[in-house]
Amino acid sequence: MIITIDGPAGAGKSSIAREVATDLGFAFLDTGAMYRAITLGAMRRGIAFDDVLALVDYAQQANLSWKDDRIDLDEQDISVEIRTPAVTSNIRYIADPPEIRGCLTMQQRRIAEGRNLVTEGRDQGTEVFPEAECKVFLTASPEERAKRRHLQLQKAGKESTYEEVLMAQNQRDLEDRMRPVGRLRAALDAVVIQTDGMTSCDVKQAVLGIVRSNLQAI
Ligand code: DC
Repeated sequence: MIITIDGPAGAGKSSIAREVATDLGFAFLDTGAMYRAITLGAMRRGIAFDDVLALVDYAQQANLSWKDDRIDLDEQDISVEIRTPAVTSNIRYIADPPEIRGCLTMQQRRIAEGRNLVTEGRDQGTEVFPEAECKVFLTASPEERAKRRHLQLQKAGKESTYEEVLMAQNQRDLEDRMRPVGRLRAALDAVVIQTDGMTSCDVKQAVLGIVRSNLQAI
């Protein structure tokens, strides 16, 4: 069984998807981390971001591995480095070209083979797993998402204003929504959860409720 959780940056997809996977005993896949890891690897290798053929070649053979919350590239933990602004600002060079997306889509489908999986990203319910048994689109207003992200950054001791966070997030939303292939959108058969004012516990329960009712319908 495949459960897809898509939505914009800062909607809380990763933590909810991870918790739902743990509750159900399913595997968990953070596809944003894959895009981030390929971006970081290309930066480290000095591959030009306009050389799509070289980027596809790299995406096909990049040595990625996962263990719980940790993601390794070439057997080195990159879980923190993939979240830096330097990586985030270059992700579009990996996420935009359909050829690179095709390669990551194939890898995501391979990871899902023979598994019960909760997978989160932008295109999981639309492009990668259109036949998924259960699809959720998690969203919140830009202000609410920026408020949550700003709070997280403050807790981590990182300097930035709410306005800066909101502006960067709006830019990313725009890029994610305008992508020619794999753009951010809810699948027609996804259940949309608008999470403004909900606690993460409420959201998790709502997702589990959708999973249960979909299971009964199968
Ligand atoms: O979920 P995230 O913020 O870690 O994702 C980082 C970027 O990766 C996001 O801005 C767009 C891209 N991405 C994508 O294009 N398709 C996905 N399925 C997941 C992420």
